[in-house]
Amino acid sequence: MDKRVEQNRAGWDLRAEAHASGASLYDVDGFRAGESSLRPFELEALGDVRGRSLLHLMCHFGLDTLSWARLGAEVTGLDFSGEAIAAARRLADEVGLPARFVQADVYDAADVLDADYDIVIATYGVLMWLPDLPEWARVVARLLRPGGVLFIGEFHPQQGQVDADLRITTSYFRTEPRTTEVAASYTGQQIAPHTQITWPWTISGLVNALVDAGLHINRLDELPVDLRQRHPTMEQGPDGLWRIPGNPIPLLLTCRATKPA
Ligand SMILES: C[S@@+](CC[C@H](N)C(=O)[O-])C[C@H]1O[C@@H](n2cnc3c(N)ncnc32)[C@H](O)[C@@H]1O
Repeated sequence: MDKRVEQNRAGWDLRAEAHASGASLYDVDGFRAGESSLRPFELEALGDVRGRSLLHLMCHFGLDTLSWARLGAEVTGLDFSGEAIAAARRLADEVGLPARFVQADVYDAADVLDADYDIVIATYGVLMWLPDLPEWARVVARLLRPGGVLFIGEFHPQQGQVDADLRITTSYFRTEPRTTEVAASYTGQQIAPHTQITWPWTISGLVNALVDAGLHINRLDELPVDLRQRHPTMEQGPDGLWRIPGNPIPLLLTCRATKPA
């Protein structure tokens, strides 16, 4: 494994442990009580998943994976964090949902899993951890059966370009990875200080990676809503999503692509 990816994995072990044991951002109690953690975007994009094989890449501690299982999909979750996978297995046992959770680097996914999924999903906070987006897209293409569908939901890269006052602080087109010292998770929980390395990506970089991997893009949307409050001016709507008044920048993107039959 790339040394930088290995370093990130240690950070994700810390986060997974903290998140699974009680982050307000992840409503684990609500999930235990029967609620779903899924957002309208992915539900609309994928429709009825009953009986369909679904692979959730970089699945964290499995809340979304198990929400898909609750809708009747035959789910597999993959993550490189041992803590995340252990927490996902515990949660599956606790709520009694059938699921397979596999610990592996996402770049090894096509070697360790069967390559014939109806659906592959990667959502919200995944692309920035990938040192090689074209290779990731090729792995996804190998994992899908012909006719299978990929759904990506992600924070828009323009968000990484601006500060809390929406001033541009960095080039959209930067290519170098960013090294950051962190001592807290995005949930606000304190975790042991460590170094994280993230990689920039662009919309065109994503589209071209998917196209070059042989996938057909059915739809790509940029949305003025976010899953959490990042800027002080953001307001939460009755749907639970956050918006900046006036919608000055895109906050999320969703993409649906298909492997040709
Ligand atoms: C922000 S979380 C994804 C959130 C998830 N969609 C959810 O709803 O909880 C990112 C996940 O990617 C995983 N990850 C990062 N790099 C990875 C890699 N190279 N291989 C496998 N998993 C990776 C992390 O362990 C973490 O669980």
